[in-house]
Amino acid sequence: MIPLSLAQIARVTGGQLCHGDPDAVVSGEVVIDSRRAGPGGLFAAVAGERSDGHDFAAAAVAAGATAVLATRPVTVPSVLVADVPAALAALARSVVDALPAVRIAGITGSSGKTSTKDLAAQLMERLGPTIAPAGSYNNEFGHPLTVLRADAATRYLVLELSARGIGHIAYLCRVAPPRYGVVLNVGHAHAGEFGGLDQVARAKGELAEALPADGVAILNADDPRVLAMAERTEARVVTFSSAPGSDAPVRAVDIRLDDLGRPGFTLLTPEGSAPVSLRLHGAHNVPNALAAAALARELGMDLDGIADGLGAAVARSRWRMEVHQRPDGVTVINDAYNANPESVRAAIDALSHLAQGGRAFAILGHMAELGGTSRASHEDIGEYAARIGDSGLAGLIAVGEEAAPLLDGARRVRSWTGEALAAPDGAAALELLANRLKPSDVVLVKASRAAHLEGVAAALEGEAGQ
Ligand SMILES: Nc1ncnc2c1ncn2[C@@H]1O[C@H](COP(=O)(O)OP(=O)(O)OP(=O)(O)O)[C@@H](O)[C@H]1O
Ligand SMILES: [Mg+2]
Repeated sequence: MIPLSLAQIARVTGGQLCHGDPDAVVSGEVVIDSRRAGPGGLFAAVAGERSDGHDFAAAAVAAGATAVLATRPVTVPSVLVADVPAALAALARSVVDALPAVRIAGITGSSGKTSTKDLAAQLMERLGPTIAPAGSYNNEFGHPLTVLRADAATRYLVLELSARGIGHIAYLCRVAPPRYGVVLNVGHAHAGEFGGLDQVARAKGELAEALPADGVAILNADDPRVLAMAERTEARVVTFSSAPGSDAPVRAVDIRLDDLGRPGFTLLTPEGSAPVSLRLHGAHNVPNALAAAALARELGMDLDGIADGLGAAVARSRWRMEVHQRPDGVTVINDAYNANPESVRAAIDALSHLAQGGRAFAILGHMAELGGTSRASHEDIGEYAARIGDSGLAGLIAVGEEAAPLLDGARRVRSWTGEALAAPDGAAALELLANRLKPSDVVLVKASRAAHLEGVAAALEGEAGQ
């Protein structure tokens, strides 16, 4: 973070300085977890459901923090504000304004934001010092905290922008106005809260609307709702596509998957073509890679650098399409980070590909926040799973609250000969699977964050040594 005195922080946030030296300087990280507070940092106290950050104000200062951002008086140096996220946003905006040379890119979409952000960051780091959020730090806390890590050495900021409602992305774009905006797709993630796909498109399109006339909107030409955002921006539009026959300037042709489901393709740009082999798994990472490529190209990276960088990029965020091969010949796909209808289909496609020489099993939990379409969506996913390959899944183990519709959907496929199994929890799912698995079987583990199936995947992977 660029050094700011407590007096400056109070002025920027409209807060009141208490017990502190106005000239004391914050130069370390701004954090909301007191355990991560360090020398010269600022601890933002947030009242959560289980604990109140204000109770840890003294501990944060004892750990070296210069001061605390708080909404009620504490006994240590602090800046009292009415609203912590708003104060963090104001601080982040002041840092952005003080660093005009930093080029800011925002990435949004229903699925693939983190994957694309991680790919883009690994390209941009080749161009210069880059700040990107850790994991999925993309909301009203994570966003300003990421921006606040920028300093005079920073050249690029790549931000993941998430929305659970209209106006959220517009807000994040005011905190750190992007000049480059990437929109990946409009899908069913949180569609229940939004009230349908058109509302999701309205929200995601706020990124296109926020871009300036000298900015660049990087849009997925394969998603009509995303392509339509070209009408909503003053920025220059650059599209990408992985569909056959597309004339998008950045596209992938000759897409193929290796035995482990890692895509290879020829990257076409107006400058020429280059072969790319991704280390990431799943065909859905092709559009993510194209989006990152289009962004890097706009930032001045040449085609060979992009192709090389994409080929070297690794998965930085956990539990997204991790493919683990056990010594006993079983392959585990850990995609337990989150789930919505599009990402479950993408994962089932990858499962189907990996299981070409063996049997496919899936442990699926519920997809959260789908609203009124939840039951039908789960039935459709069950049906989709039962139809893969020649004979569908060998076994569908449905865990938790939406197990019944998942299994009902699978049973709709009359020709399906696989087993439909319900498990109340992850432990029961593991038990059901244990005496069924054979060498060369492939198992997918996937559910919404709320289902916490990553433990199930870890247990399956952990059996490797036994
Ligand atoms: N382009 C895509 N289309 C469909 N599914 C995808 C795509 N990219 C990633 N996924 C899948 O979606 C899930 C989430 O991926 P990722 O974390 O990159 O998305 P996200 O948009 O950041 O999600 P969140 O909203 O939870 O932050 C993973 O299971 C991943 O395999
Ligand atoms: Mg994310």
